[in-house]
Amino acid sequence: MNEHLLGLEYCSKEEIESMLKAGFSFKEVLSRPIPKVPTLRGKTVVNLFFENSTRTRISFELAQKRLSADTVNFSASGSSVSKGESLRDTIRNIEAMKIDMVVVRHQSPGVPYFLTQCTDSIIINAGDGLHEHPTQGLLDIMTLQEKLGTVKDLKVVIVGDILHSRVARSNIYGLQKLGAKVALCGPPTLIPVQAEQWGVEIFYNIEDAIRWGEVLNVLRLQLERQHSGLFPTRREYAHRFGVTLEKLRQVDKEITIMHPGPINRGLELEHDLADSEFSVILDQVTNGVALRMAVLYLKSGVSTTEQAISQKK
Ligand code: CP
Repeated sequence: MNEHLLGLEYCSKEEIESMLKAGFSFKEVLSRPIPKVPTLRGKTVVNLFFENSTRTRISFELAQKRLSADTVNFSASGSSVSKGESLRDTIRNIEAMKIDMVVVRHQSPGVPYFLTQCTDSIIINAGDGLHEHPTQGLLDIMTLQEKLGTVKDLKVVIVGDILHSRVARSNIYGLQKLGAKVALCGPPTLIPVQAEQWGVEIFYNIEDAIRWGEVLNVLRLQLERQHSGLFPTRREYAHRFGVTLEKLRQVDKEITIMHPGPINRGLELEHDLADSEFSVILDQVTNGVALRMAVLYLKSGVSTTEQAISQKK
């Protein structure tokens, strides 16, 4: 098992399977009257967030608390980064306070790897620019396994703003390693040119993608990163690529709708569809805590899952 979690590109199928298996074990822990185990007692984890987050940040913090770790939260705003302190100095000063693990989100791809070069702490990538968001990829796969049993041979379409999406990249690596068939769908301007080398189907028409797929993982249109007219108007995008109940009704099969959040309701995903029986969006969020417990536990290097989760039974 890799020491750090930098991306699913660098994980073997077996590593991914063991993180998912541990995720399901920790989900059982979370269903107990006291959803807490002493697995990481004595370990200190720093959540180093340079970019905004709701789901990832809160679920990592909850996961740490459920594992009895000591947790510290860092935000770039309000820290000495705003006075010009470098990333290297920031992490080395935090490490001097004796920590074990760092969960990092940063707007620049490669920052988690950079941190592995200047600290001895274990680094978990919570999203680095356009590169990867490995725990999101894992919790998405966990949610599909929970609902459908397996992702082997499952046809998953990732819809929308692939160009700016670290979630898409982690899903592609993870799903393909577990034998799923992956397709991308969106306007040509939002699908990177190298996508043809990723072993994926590509659709430029949402109706064709819906006919092909069994799962639609709908991505947020990253409006804050759209500065160069990559699509004409929001209205046209919603009309052509927005996922709606009416478009799903054109096919005679059950489709599972996913979204990593936050959702632009009415843009990439119809408002009511997000809350419909097709949607597993809140299951993804629920599974995020158990899955992140699994990652923290496995990367911490403490005993076996069975020992870890049975201590408080
Ligand atoms: N899915 C996701 O990364 O959401 P947040 O940005 O709220 O963490």
